[in-house]
Parts: sequence; structure tokens; C-alpha cells
Amino acid sequence: VRLELSLEQIEKGGYKHFMLKEIMDQPNAMRNALRGRIYQPADVPDKWEIKLGGLEKAKEGLSADGISPLERMANASRLIFAACGTSWHSSLIAKYAFEKLAGVAAEVEYASEFRYRKPLICRSDCLIAISQSGETADTLEAIKMAKQHQALTIGVVNVVGSSIARETDAGMYLHAGPEIGVASTKAFTCQVVALLLMALRLGKQRGVLSETTLNSYCAALNSVPDSIEKWLAALTDQTRIVSKYFRLATNAIFSGMGIHFPVALEGALKLKEISYIHAEGFPASEIRHGGITLIRNFVPVICVAMRSDPAYEDMKQMVQDFRAKDAAVVVLTDDGNTDFSNIAHFTLHCPDTKLELQPLMCCIPLQLLSYYIADMRGCSIDQPRNLAKSVTVE
Ligand code: G6P
Repeated sequence: VRLELSLEQIEKGGYKHFMLKEIMDQPNAMRNALRGRIYQPADVPDKWEIKLGGLEKAKEGLSADGISPLERMANASRLIFAACGTSWHSSLIAKYAFEKLAGVAAEVEYASEFRYRKPLICRSDCLIAISQSGETADTLEAIKMAKQHQALTIGVVNVVGSSIARETDAGMYLHAGPEIGVASTKAFTCQVVALLLMALRLGKQRGVLSETTLNSYCAALNSVPDSIEKWLAALTDQTRIVSKYFRLATNAIFSGMGIHFPVALEGALKLKEISYIHAEGFPASEIRHGGITLIRNFVPVICVAMRSDPAYEDMKQMVQDFRAKDAAVVVLTDDGNTDFSNIAHFTLHCPDTKLELQPLMCCIPLQLLSYYIADMRGCSIDQPRNLAKSVTVE
């Protein structure tokens, strides 16, 4: 028997597309992002430590005064996240996490907008550049501007040795492995993992998190990859069914509140990128101020409604409103929640975790939904029209 496989087929590891392989690879990619950075000291049960080597020592020649980047971050007057595309969405999630877990003011900027105005940057600011490729021209320019104002610059980057990794004062690699599909999936979840680690470490440094709280967050974060792995097979079947129903849609709305609003934005971006269906993400209540005109019969509305969300009751009300307008409602909620059984057309259940970690789970069904819809529409999934993996031109 002669088996012939192209190099590309081997690289896809038996999957039809790189994107699907990369979605399925997420538990392992996240484990790699956590490895060596989060651990339990051998003889102390329930105690966790976070060690971020890349933030503990400044690059050679950068810090003559001996202050580590972590210490400078801990004393920063504010954090400015600068990024593009999917990386901008992980920055929005990070803003929630850093404000709550590290008690520090954080702003999120589109790198392209930031660089073309005259933003007020001071020495005590810390600019955190998020980028899968490490080569996005606008993000690189934002770093250079921050450096001109002597602010600290931190890179959260996947590609080792990339321009952003070299240009920043310190940082963290994602260790997500190569991402080939143009639409980012595993790099996104690994960005969120890396940023959560950073927020927790900073929370400890700033004395914001008690030892008990830190330990419980670490234990929860460490168990996320296993929970996703156990969930993936059943989830794949469920999202395929939902996708079949929506494959002919021309518009779709994604909605979520609080930390799940960026998840809704990322869900909409994934669908746009690979299926060419027009999609928008809204904070649920904000839909009342305009987007509600788009909600009508058969329009798919995908809602992220987790009970741990402080805005859950509002979200539930919005789901009822969407249904009353005959939209085709999909609700993504936590395990065991039956609140939507009689309201939603489809309910997908997500493993439970702490609120700030929940986006890691919630984005997976949305990635799969886009993937299967695009596949059913016969789209060029790994290389969507007009889209580049990394935008290095200005
Ligand atoms: C392009 C890609 C997106 C990516 C964005 C930012 O638009 O198509 O998938 O999110 O660039 O790229 P970066 O490498 O900086 O994360």
C-alpha cells in the first residue's frame, strides 16, 4: 500500500484546514503559554506562584538604575494597550482583567489611531503592545512613539525575534506555536492567557490581590486547558448543527456585556473574516441605541450570557427582546443554566470558571461556528480574500 501525502496535508495533521487544526490545538497551545510561568511550590499545598522571566530583567543596557520592568509596571500611572485586529480584542479583555485584578487604570488603543494623533504620553506610562506576528507596522510605530516619551514598552508577541519583540523594553512570548490560518484563533487565546498571567502577577506586585485570591485564580487558570479539551468533541458536533442552520445568513449580530463584549466583537470579526457574512458585535444594552433596527425575523443573534456576569439580568432581558422580534437566537451560557431553554433557538453550554477567565472558554464556540459556516459556504478559510496574516505596510 502506497500512501501519498503532501507536505501541506502532513502539516495540517489530518484536519481539512489550518484554522480547524489551530482551534483544536488550543488546549495544548494554552498549556505551552502557561508552562514554567505558573506552578505550585513542591511542599506547599494550594499555593501557586507566577514567574514571568521576561518582565523580571530589563534587556541589556536598558535599565541602568536596576529597576525591573515588573517594578516599573507596578508603579505605572496607567497602562496603554496598543494593537490591531484580533489582538485589539484581547487587549479589551485585558483592560477588564488589569483593572480588577491589578487595580491599575488601563486604556485600549487601535495602534493605527494612536500613532496618527498626538496622544498624551508620559514617562510613568506603560505601553503594552499586543501582536501575534510582532510585525504589524502600526503597532510598531505606537511603540516607537511611546519610547520617544520615555514610557516603558512591553511586548506580548508570538513570533520569536520579531520586530516588536526586539523593539520593546521587555515582554512575554505567547508560545502558541506557528499560526498559519489568516484568522487568528490560538494566538488570541494565548494572548488572553499571557495577559491574565501578567495581570495576576502585577496584582501581587501591587499588593492588590490577597494570597488566597491569587491562589484560587491560578488554580482556575491552570485548569482551563483541560476543561476545554474535555468539551471540544461535544462542542464540535453542536456548533456544526447550529452552523447548518445559519450558513445562508447575510447578516449576524453578536452581543455580550462587560468582559464578554470583546468576545462578541471577536466572534463577529471571525465570521466576517472567513465567511464574508456581514457581522457586528454590540454590548447588549447598547443595541437599544441603534442596532436594534437590524434585529428582525431570521437574523441570527448570538448572545454570550454567563450567570457570573454582573450584567447577567440585563443580558437575559435583551435575549427575551431579541426573541420577541423573531430573531434566530443562539445563547452561549454556563453549564446547567436552564434560563434560556424556552427562549433561545439554540443554547450552547460552556464550562464554568472565574469571570475574568471565562472569555477563554466563550470564544471557542464562536470560532467553531465561523469555521463551520465558512466551510459550508465553500470559502477559502485559511486565506480569505483581501486579508493578510500580518499588515506590515502603512
Ligand atoms: C491582520 C490579521 C489579523 C490580526 C491583525 C493584527 O489584520 O489578518 O488576524 O489580528 O492583523 O496582527 P498582529 O500580528 O499584530 O496580531
